[in-house]
Amino acid sequence: MNQSASTSTPTSTPTYDILLRQGSLLHPDRPSEIVDLGIRDGQIAAIAPHLDGTAITELDVTGQVISPPLVESHIHLDSARTIGNPRWNQSGTLFEGIDIWSDRKKTLTVEEVCDRAVGTLKQQALQGVLFVRSHADVSEPTLTALQGLLAAREQVKDWMTLQVVAFPQDGIYSQPKNNDLMEEAMKLGADAVGGIPHYELTREDGVQSVHRIFDLAERYDRLIDVHCDEIDDDQARFLEVMAACAIRRGNGAKVTASHTTAFSSYNNAYAMKLLGFLQRAQINFVSNPLINITLQGRTDTYPKRRGVTRVKELWQLGLNVSLGHDCIQDPWYSLGTGNMLDVASMAIHVCHMTGQAEIDACYNMVTWHGAKTLNVADDYGLEVGKPANVIVLAASDRYDAICRRATVQYVISRGQMLAQTRPPEPQWCR
Ligand code: FE2
Repeated sequence: MNQSASTSTPTSTPTYDILLRQGSLLHPDRPSEIVDLGIRDGQIAAIAPHLDGTAITELDVTGQVISPPLVESHIHLDSARTIGNPRWNQSGTLFEGIDIWSDRKKTLTVEEVCDRAVGTLKQQALQGVLFVRSHADVSEPTLTALQGLLAAREQVKDWMTLQVVAFPQDGIYSQPKNNDLMEEAMKLGADAVGGIPHYELTREDGVQSVHRIFDLAERYDRLIDVHCDEIDDDQARFLEVMAACAIRRGNGAKVTASHTTAFSSYNNAYAMKLLGFLQRAQINFVSNPLINITLQGRTDTYPKRRGVTRVKELWQLGLNVSLGHDCIQDPWYSLGTGNMLDVASMAIHVCHMTGQAEIDACYNMVTWHGAKTLNVADDYGLEVGKPANVIVLAASDRYDAICRRATVQYVISRGQMLAQTRPPEPQWCR
């Protein structure tokens, strides 16, 4: 606990469990305000310019940002932190990554997947992440990766919301058994149906897979999150199939198109037509700029495409866009620490979102927009009566937080202090 914190032992019952004093409270769509925020019985009990009363733990957070937690909209926890095992990705391509992973996943055990996942989730929680959507590869017959992540979901449920997507890495129709494995994954309790239509054997298989995904989601009442058009091929056109399915079924709010990197390669005439359909569909988008900028453009000479979807244009149209880390030290991406401020920073760079409002928007994409993608918005946000999931950053505002990758000093989950990190205090020695 830092020097400005105090823990009281009053004779009467304290008003609050935790009281944050004079922090800069962020709002998604209006200026921040200086407030006290009181937490009691797991909920945000009061927010006001000044609160009377006592607290078990009172923290002076003057000059710091009070934010809802960071949201990881898209990660692969089953492969996280396996870098170099069984081998390094020498070409740096998505497809060599899939080859390496297909060897690595033969050696998975439920316990090992669960342990790595929980370790990665703790690493992210220390950096202010309390809501995570992870994909679990369900292309191998034992469903070990899925079972490992479901075990992790159970292990962290008291302090972290983890959603698990049944993700057929090798395609739903590439092997006869894979289609059945998707159904089995639903029965085991996956939160969402995934897919990879651009990696199916034929375009027709890809279209059929999208319909299959929507059918499964409807039958089992699950969310949808599809790896859609994660390729530089400007003819990868499965986003329009997802949009059509969502328009016809009226379930866009429960549907997410992840990656959609081909969207950045489409000709503008087609892209403009598609944007209109997407407005009708009202589906969510997840971009993974760290990984997309690394994996895409690998077959280009020069100029090299950036391979990141049209984040700025989607955001300008008012569509919900959130950001994911995607990979942490695995066959597809050898770097990363799970810091969502790194992700926001890369989006700012690659998507040309350096304007002040655009930088704020990129912060919102790793907070409120992520909550909307995960369909947890009702329980998310800094409002009285909501669950007390709150972080305090050693930063003056959103821009400062991203620019300096500010330390998340306090992480409060469900009304209890989960983690504390002291900001670095460098000393000039001459
Ligand atoms: Fe992914």
